[in-house]
Amino acid sequence: MIREILRMGDPRLLSVCQPVTEFGTPALQALVADLVDTMHAADGAGLAAPQIGVDLRVVVFGGSPSARYPDAPVVPFTVLVNPVLTPLGDTMEEGWEGCLSVPGLRGVVARHGRLRYGGRDPDGNLIDRTVDGFHARVVQHECDHLDGILYPMRVTDFSRFGYTDVLFPGVDAGADD
Ligand code: NI
Repeated sequence: MIREILRMGDPRLLSVCQPVTEFGTPALQALVADLVDTMHAADGAGLAAPQIGVDLRVVVFGGSPSARYPDAPVVPFTVLVNPVLTPLGDTMEEGWEGCLSVPGLRGVVARHGRLRYGGRDPDGNLIDRTVDGFHARVVQHECDHLDGILYPMRVTDFSRFGYTDVLFPGVDAGADD
């Protein structure tokens, strides 16, 4: 079911979400289905449970080339529950980000260039990956949502933050992500 996506300013986007304690349940499966339906309907690169008002540590991302990031490598479709991120090395990379909860805007955010992430899939199976680049950026953006952090909170140079159609005139940036 396609759900309403909360927008920045809604206090539910600021909460530190609760870990999932039971896997493979109909309730968790329904949540994941709603996240996937809503992400696809919005043509998003990822979506976190708090963005649809659910206070649980669940994110979905990847799966298809993004209209907004046509040059980015395809990130495998992933449902990640109770994620744990471990940065590898000190390298930070800057890149443009948008968010479905902050429609119409883009900003440059510095993220860890390489990291290891772990967690579980909805059935409780372990996930353990080492990634870099765009994949690493997407994971960091989505997992930030679980701690109540929206990407504008990480923008340090507001000369590189603004409206998508003003920043990138003439570019079909698609829907917001
Ligand atoms: Ni977001």
